[in-house]
Amino acid sequence: MNVKQPIIIDCDPGIDDSLALMLALNSPELDILGITVVCGNVPAQIGAQNVFKILEFTGHENIPVFLGSQTPLQKPYIDAMDTHGKDGFGEFEYFCKQKKTPKPDAVEFILETLNSIPKLSIIALGPLTNIAQAIRIDPNAFSHLDRFVSMGGNFRSHGNCSPVAEYNYWCDPLAAKEVFSFFEQKADASYPKIEMVGLDVTRKILLTPNYLEYMKRLNLEIGSFVENLTRFYIDFHWNVEHLIGCVINDPLAVAHFLCPKLCSGIEAFTDIAVEGICEGQSVVDSMNFYKKPSNSLVLTYVDTKHFWSLFFSRLLHISESIILLDGGSL
Ligand code: BDR
Ligand code: CA
Repeated sequence: MNVKQPIIIDCDPGIDDSLALMLALNSPELDILGITVVCGNVPAQIGAQNVFKILEFTGHENIPVFLGSQTPLQKPYIDAMDTHGKDGFGEFEYFCKQKKTPKPDAVEFILETLNSIPKLSIIALGPLTNIAQAIRIDPNAFSHLDRFVSMGGNFRSHGNCSPVAEYNYWCDPLAAKEVFSFFEQKADASYPKIEMVGLDVTRKILLTPNYLEYMKRLNLEIGSFVENLTRFYIDFHWNVEHLIGCVINDPLAVAHFLCPKLCSGIEAFTDIAVEGICEGQSVVDSMNFYKKPSNSLVLTYVDTKHFWSLFFSRLLHISESIILLDGGSL
């Protein structure tokens, strides 16, 4: 019998968070106990509305949504609406049928669930503010954590907010530092490591116009929805990086959770810089200079073909066997 894996998804939707939620919601291996929202790409209230849009579009309105931190722990809040649109949803005028209100306390929900569900995992797709707050309040609740996957950071790849920093850790560097330091204190053979799905691997996941066309051919309704959702993001990538397509970071964190063999990497001690020109940088001690226990698994390689076949098949409700990524111009 296959037992579903209980998880909480902490996110800041966000265009790529929305795609990550679609992947997770279409994955029968997961039992999503709740979705918690943090301020990041957009203020948490707006992010929560985007979660409701995805839950409605995918027919999962029974999953509870919790509102989390409205500001980073210390640093003034800086959103990423330039990347994701003012609504965090690519400004394509998609609305829920009815206005919905999230439940009030994401941090309390995370702690209560950790305390009541023995092998809970967390996939964090935004700044780590909610998680750091939960650790501050009740570190013991994390004793039986199964896995912790965080989309964030970068090792050899450059940053996307500064030469060295990735947005999620740069938005709330203190929260990221506290979470990595908690995993350092807990580090032993039996405690999980932070599975850091950073820009080294997510930059390889470029959703191109060809892929969008392919998605529409396979499922017009869902393919068109993804095309509308990502148009703003694709324009941003063109304007800023002269890239055709968009890097969809967050779905890779979910895919890695589902298929741990999809990516590989190195175990290392990682710390986060909280100030100065390196603010938000994930400093990965791959050469063990600091002689500290490793608190992270830093992903450095991804099998992109495997990712896309999983992503397309799950989002479009088709069998992986009919996806032919070797064929033609794809
Ligand atoms: C991360 O920052 C956000 O803009 C994305 O949603 C992703 O989680 C990438 O740096
Ligand atoms: Ca995100």
